[in-house]
Amino acid sequence: QPASVPAAQAARDAEALAEAAAVLAAGGTVAFPTETVYGLGADARNTKAVEAIFAAKGRPSDNPLIVHIASMSQLEGLVTEVNETARKLMEAFWPGPLTLVLPAAPGVVSPRVTAGLDTVGVRMPAHDVALRLIAAAGCPVAGPSANRSGRPSPTLASHVGEDLSGRIDGIVDGGPTGVGLESTVVEAGRDGTVTVLRPGGITAEQIARVTGAGVKLDAALREAGGGADSPAPRAPGMKYTHYAPQGVMRIVSGAADRVAARIQAELAAASARGEKTGVLAFDERLPSYRADCSLSLGSETELAAAAHRLYAALRRFDECGVTYILAESCPEEGLGAAVMNRLLKAAGHRVIDAGE
Ligand code: TXA
Ligand code: MG
Repeated sequence: QPASVPAAQAARDAEALAEAAAVLAAGGTVAFPTETVYGLGADARNTKAVEAIFAAKGRPSDNPLIVHIASMSQLEGLVTEVNETARKLMEAFWPGPLTLVLPAAPGVVSPRVTAGLDTVGVRMPAHDVALRLIAAAGCPVAGPSANRSGRPSPTLASHVGEDLSGRIDGIVDGGPTGVGLESTVVEAGRDGTVTVLRPGGITAEQIARVTGAGVKLDAALREAGGGADSPAPRAPGMKYTHYAPQGVMRIVSGAADRVAARIQAELAAASARGEKTGVLAFDERLPSYRADCSLSLGSETELAAAAHRLYAALRRFDECGVTYILAESCPEEGLGAAVMNRLLKAAGHRVIDAGE
């Protein structure tokens, strides 16, 4: 009965979702898909449940978690104020990959979620499975990316399994995530200014079109950081070297023909000294590179593909055991700002300037 197959599958999916929601409501940890990356969920009000997230991920306790909601009514209890600008951004981008840092209502979410800050990061994910799960659990769901700390965020349920199998109470498999990079984290001031604390799936250009004003980038994001006098990032998570592959990675920037020539030369030299090489590049030049592991970021005219593929590619390099990786840079416009932010972190800010 071919017609009954989708119906049976839908029934199994609904059952799995109800089971996952019950685990969350009972204080367990469940990984779930969102439109950005997979999250590791727990009841945000339950300190024990939230502590289980930190333990499973090996996450530093000073790094606050994003709280996921499924409806605007869930927001009301969580925050003390939503200013005009924040309201406009919610209307424009929720559900979607935008996290707003808002003044936290005291005593609602666990202090472990906010890491002791008086603000809470909230977002409503644009993913049917996530929304249904949160609604069925009946609680605000704290959810960092569902990777071990320091690993690339998971864009497939199998990535979650690789990192967290045996450490969490369940995984809801919703297939590959869409955006592939995390949400944009912003703070919206009462004066209408918006500060990006972490670039992500909603671009600064999109935000500026809605607010009609300029968008600031948190000063700490402009530089490599780590120096004694560099400013501390306002999203605490941005100070950690995330996503670092096991091999040494460098980004090559500059004019396209110079980048291609430089990468070809660097790969040849690396092979000659016995490195196992990897290259991460756009399709326009990828065929001109010779490496042990060549991975595509898609066409440079379509940066959404680069965002979608980036984390799986970083995981693939580790599987291949490459020791030396070169990646092409992209313009820091639109989604390119988030792609470059993650690439620079993966490369520990090591950039080769091939010239213009
Ligand atoms: O797309 C996403 O945002 C994914 C999915 C699962 O929703 N989640 C995610 O969470 O990336 P996580 O925990 O990996 O990253 C949260 C980031 C961290 O950089 C953290 O420091 C920042 O948001 N953050 C959270 N609450 C904050 C707050 N109250 N003030 C400033 N930054 C905050
Ligand atoms: Mg993360």
